Amino acid sequence: MDMANQLSPIHIACIMDGNGRWAKRRGLPRTEGHTAGEENLAEVVRVCASRNVGWLTVFGFSTENWVRPPAEVKHILSLHKKLFGRIEELNANNVRIQWIGRPFDEPSSKTPGFIQKAILQAIDDTAHNTGMVLTVAFDYGSRAELLRAAQLSRASHLTALDVSVDEISSHLYLPSLPPVDVVVRTSGESRISNFMLWQIQGAKAYFTERTWPDFDAHEIDNALKLVHAH
Ligand code: IPE
Ligand code: IPE
Ligand code: MG
Repeated sequence: MDMANQLSPIHIACIMDGNGRWAKRRGLPRTEGHTAGEENLAEVVRVCASRNVGWLTVFGFSTENWVRPPAEVKHILSLHKKLFGRIEELNANNVRIQWIGRPFDEPSSKTPGFIQKAILQAIDDTAHNTGMVLTVAFDYGSRAELLRAAQLSRASHLTALDVSVDEISSHLYLPSLPPVDVVVRTSGESRISNFMLWQIQGAKAYFTERTWPDFDAHEIDNALKLVHAH
């Protein structure tokens, strides 16, 4: 393991899956699983901020998730409002929050106004923090992101052949987000489900049977260990 590699901050990206199964196992409604998942995310943020993690990116809600039952969607929305409202904790951990998803001004955007407000407020209230960057993917899908990047890249060139890898990268939703070092998916699934398809090029993958509400510090360390393994 070389020293430089050991010291450079890691980008970990988590597909937080299995909230429903966590609840089902306990005979609870799915919504309770999402509540437990949001609470665990707060703990994961704290643990990652105390490790060599520079960027934590989490899949909160996908462009495909809107077809879930309205009551479940409503509950998940309220949990995102709660998550983006955790300003005191974020500031205490020197964490800067970001959001990734379909831009609010695009016709395809589905983020309701009250979530937009919570997102913008949280970004503003944590902008001064210099530690870990927490990026929450909400109304996010890689295909929508890449389609837009391709359209914008094409628009800025005379011919399609001039479109380059760098050009596409510069038109992603958050061009400043570094490549992902390790992508995690919980609850025994090994699908990527339209998450960060461009950004996970070259990333390690960590799949665990644990459901998201049970994803703990030991699991985080297992995933981080993969980054330096051959
Ligand atoms: C992940 O848990 C949360 C979201 C996708 C919003 P699930 O709700 O997908 O949980 P399972 O897969 O049904 O167990
Ligand atoms: C992926 O989980 C999306 C999020 C974690 C937000 P899903 O549970 O929605 O994914 P699929 O449909 O099982 O692949
Ligand atoms: Mg699922």
